[in-house]
Amino acid sequence: MRNVEVRFHRDFAIGTTHPRLFGAFIEHLGRCVYGGIFEPGHPTADARGFRQDVMALVRELAPTIMRYPGGNFVSGYDWEDGVGPIAERPQRLDLAWMSTETNQFGTNEFIDWCRMAGIEPMLAVNLGTRGGDAARRMVEYCNHPGGTTLSERRRTHGWDKPHGVKFWCLGNEMDGPWQMEAKTATEYGRVAREAAKMMKWFDPSIELAAAGSSGRRMPTFGAWEDTVLQHTFDHVEYISLHTYLNNYDQDTPAFLASVDLMDDFIDEVVAIADAVAARRRSSKRIMLSFDEWNVWYRTRRNRAARIKEGWPVAPPILEEIYNMEDALAFGGCCISLLNHADRVTAACLAQLVNVIAPIMTETGGPAWRQTIFWPFMQFSRMGRGRVLRTEIRSPTYSARYNDPQGPINDYYDIPAAPYLKLSAVHDDKAGTLTLFALNRSLTEEMPLAVSAAGFGKVAVKQALQLCDPDLEAVNSKTSPDRIAPKPLAKVKTSGGQVEAVLAPASWNVIQLAV
Ligand code: AHR
Repeated sequence: MRNVEVRFHRDFAIGTTHPRLFGAFIEHLGRCVYGGIFEPGHPTADARGFRQDVMALVRELAPTIMRYPGGNFVSGYDWEDGVGPIAERPQRLDLAWMSTETNQFGTNEFIDWCRMAGIEPMLAVNLGTRGGDAARRMVEYCNHPGGTTLSERRRTHGWDKPHGVKFWCLGNEMDGPWQMEAKTATEYGRVAREAAKMMKWFDPSIELAAAGSSGRRMPTFGAWEDTVLQHTFDHVEYISLHTYLNNYDQDTPAFLASVDLMDDFIDEVVAIADAVAARRRSSKRIMLSFDEWNVWYRTRRNRAARIKEGWPVAPPILEEIYNMEDALAFGGCCISLLNHADRVTAACLAQLVNVIAPIMTETGGPAWRQTIFWPFMQFSRMGRGRVLRTEIRSPTYSARYNDPQGPINDYYDIPAAPYLKLSAVHDDKAGTLTLFALNRSLTEEMPLAVSAAGFGKVAVKQALQLCDPDLEAVNSKTSPDRIAPKPLAKVKTSGGQVEAVLAPASWNVIQLAV
C-alpha cells in the first residue's frame, strides 16, 4: 500500500471526551447479572454475592458509567420488585427474554456494585408497561434524603443515604415492535415529557436521555427523533442511539467498513436534534447518548441462542463469542465515538458480562477476557482528553453492507471507506498523545506517516497492536490469552513526525509522550 498520511495540529480539537463516553451496560438478561457480576456461593464471591474475579476484570476494563436494568427488560420491570428483604422479593416471568426473574439483585445491589467498582450508575425507568408515576416514585426512592414514605422505605431497606443517581434513561427502544407496550413517537414523546417533568421536580439535578429510535434501519428512524424531541426538548439533555454491527454476509471488508455508518448515524441524529433546536430558535444543544453499541449477530436472529424454552432462570443466551475480526470492527466503533466527542457525551458498550460482552464467565468457574475487551480497555484508559481534528490521506475501498431488518436483507452502499480509520487524543495533564489506528486492509501492511504539529518533539511511550493471521481466532476458558495486545515494533519518531508500519487487519494504539 502506498504511504498513508495523517496531519493534525495541537490547537485544533473536535472536543474533549466526556468521562461518560466510556460506559457499559448490565441488563437482567441471560447470565449478565446472575452468574455474571452476581453469584452467591461462587468461590470468589464476597458476602454480597459479587464475584470478585469479575470485579477485577471490570476494574481493568475501566468502564466509567453503567446502564441498568435494561434494555428490553426494563419495559416490563416493576422496580419495587427488586428492593426490600431478598427473601420476600417476588419471582416474575420476564416477557423480554422469556426467563424467570428472581429479583435477588435489584436497584440497591446495583448501586452498591457500582460504588465498589468506582462506576457511575445510569438507571433506566419503565415507560413501556408503566409510566411517569412509577418513574417519579423511583427517583424519590433513590434520590430523596428521607422523611417521606418512599425515601424512608429505602432507609429501612438499609440505604440510609440517598443514591444520588444523576443519569436516567426514559425507557428503551420504544419504537421496537418487540418492546412491551411499544409506542408511536407521539405517544412516547408525551409520556417521556411528563415523566421527565415529574422526575426533575423531585430532583432538578438529574440528567435525562429520551429514547431514540431502536436503530438507523428502523422505518421510524428520523421522524421518531424529530417528534420525540419536539415533545421533550425542554426537559431532556440527551437522545439515545443504538447500533449493533454484523457480519452476516461473511464479508469482512464490508463488516469493517460498516463502522463508518456509525459516523453517519451520529451526524444524522445531531442534524435532527439541531433542527428541532433551530425551529425553536434555541441555543440549547441536545447531546447524544450512544447507550448500546457493539458487534452482535450470531446470537441475534437465532432463536435458540436468544430464547430457551421453559422460563429458565439466567439462561445462557446471547453469549456471543467474539473473534479477532470482531475486535477490529469494535475498535473502529471506539474511533467513531472519539471522533464525535463534541456531541456524543455518553456511550455504553452493550453489554458487560456474558451477554454480548467483553467478559465471559463460567457459572461456578473462571472468568476471562474476550477479544473486544482489549480495544475497549485501551479506549477507556487512553482515550481521555482533547480529540484532535485530523486530515487523513488514505486509499479507500467500496463495500456493500447487509443490515437486515428482520429476515429481509437490506444493503447499504459504502462507496469510499478509507483503509485507515484513526483518532488522535491529547491528554494535556498526562502529557500524552494517543493514536488509535485501524488498518482495514486484510492483505497489505500500511506505512503510516503522522505529522503532529504544535507539539515539538514527540517520543514513543508505548505502542501496541492487536492482530492475528486467523481472523476467526477467539479467546476461551482454556485459551484465555489467544488474542491479546502485542508490542508494535515498527514505530519511529523524529521531531513531530511519527512513522509506523501497521500490520494488515490490525488495531493499533500508539501512545506518545509530548
Ligand atoms: O442489548 C440487547 C438488547 O438489544 C437490549 O435489551 C435492547 O435494548 C436491544 O434491542
